[in-house]
Amino acid sequence: MTDEKAQTQEFKLDPDCELRFEVESKNEKVMLELKSGLAEVFGTELVKGKKYEFIAGAKVAVFTWQGCTVELVGKTDVSYVAKETPMGLYLNCHAAMERLREAAEKEDTRGPITMVVGPCDVGKSTLCRLLLNYAVRMGRRPIFVDLDVGQGHIAIPGTVGALLVERPSNVVDGFGVSLWAQIATGQRCSVQSSQVCSDRLQANKKARVSGIVINTCGWVKGDGYKLLTHAAQAFEVDAILVLDQERLYNELVRDMPDFVKVVFLPKSGGVVERSQAQRTEARDQGVREYFYGSRTPLYPHSFEVKWNEARLYKIGAPVLPASCMPLGMKAEDNLTKLVAVTPGPNLLHHLLSVSFADSPEDDVVQTNVAGFVCVTNVDVDRQTFTVLSPQPRPLPNTVLLLSDIQFMDSH
Ligand SMILES: Nc1ncnc2c1ncn2[C@@H]1O[C@H](COP(=O)(O)OP(=O)(O)O)[C@@H](O)[C@H]1O
Ligand SMILES: [Mg+2]
Repeated sequence: MTDEKAQTQEFKLDPDCELRFEVESKNEKVMLELKSGLAEVFGTELVKGKKYEFIAGAKVAVFTWQGCTVELVGKTDVSYVAKETPMGLYLNCHAAMERLREAAEKEDTRGPITMVVGPCDVGKSTLCRLLLNYAVRMGRRPIFVDLDVGQGHIAIPGTVGALLVERPSNVVDGFGVSLWAQIATGQRCSVQSSQVCSDRLQANKKARVSGIVINTCGWVKGDGYKLLTHAAQAFEVDAILVLDQERLYNELVRDMPDFVKVVFLPKSGGVVERSQAQRTEARDQGVREYFYGSRTPLYPHSFEVKWNEARLYKIGAPVLPASCMPLGMKAEDNLTKLVAVTPGPNLLHHLLSVSFADSPEDDVVQTNVAGFVCVTNVDVDRQTFTVLSPQPRPLPNTVLLLSDIQFMDSH
């Protein structure tokens, strides 16, 4: 078959099989269509006859419980049908969570809080997506918390976020961006994000019964492990699903209290490893899409902000030895301390989050953010800086939080 013409491949899948394909070449598009039967992509059902377009970077599995025929049009770098998948085990996890939700509904308590952990590239994010999709398809409204600061899926990389999932994820793009609870400094804020989530659960019965699914990052050794156990405690998780790594599983069994169920799950043979370069590119892409969109282009605004009009802070001060701390203050308190920042060339290329807090006296760390802007220029003489912003001027608020994330706007 020649490469110039769009290639058409048809696959007939038996029940419990999945078609895996990857699109790698730049500017290549691959169209997926379900011809007959029933199939799903990471838990979202495909609509028969609808064409789904995948671009470079896509790594997809089309799974069928009942059997189906699907067609791929375009050049795929890999495409094969796999008969061995862990989907049965993953479905069992969903079924167990669903039972807990039913019980929570009856007794008016909260539903299951489940955390997914494991090293890099084992399908953690994919398993979260699957569990959330199965839950919404049963009419639930679970909360998705993404603590993966490296490859976060909710807002921009470098942030943790939470999202009330109200419909299955988009087959091509996953869950969309929603910013109701977002803290711009990373995992040290799991306590804060857990409080924000628990407030949400209190306020909304449907969400309360549906529970929370928490995604984590692949850093599982040393301090990474400490962060995981810390997050498990902060969110009061009921279950931890450990993907692929028995060592991590055993450590968690040892360290978690008895009421936390730790479950080992194998990874899917289809999960694709990413190189460091691909990770960096994915992060950059995440920020670029926030400002410029992906499929639907967005047109961000650029405007100047006067130094004296912005109130700049960062979260976290250096940890001091206990002897230097004021009486009654713990070293950890410093990690979430609000520190004023003087504007200057140090801001260049940094992302700032725009807080909804009216003043720094409010609890800024726990307040939602309106969104993010990127500093593209600093003019020391005129005492202004220029920002790239999704919204036209003025900024919705003037309390800005400086983050460590940098983005070079080369659009
Ligand atoms: N069964 C599968 N078949 C093909 N690709 C898959 C499968 N499961 C996951 N992937 C792909 O593998 C990549 C890594 O999975 P991901 O869930 O992001 O891993 P992690 O979150 O553990 O780093 C993703 O691009 C995802 O689309
Ligand atoms: Mg992930």
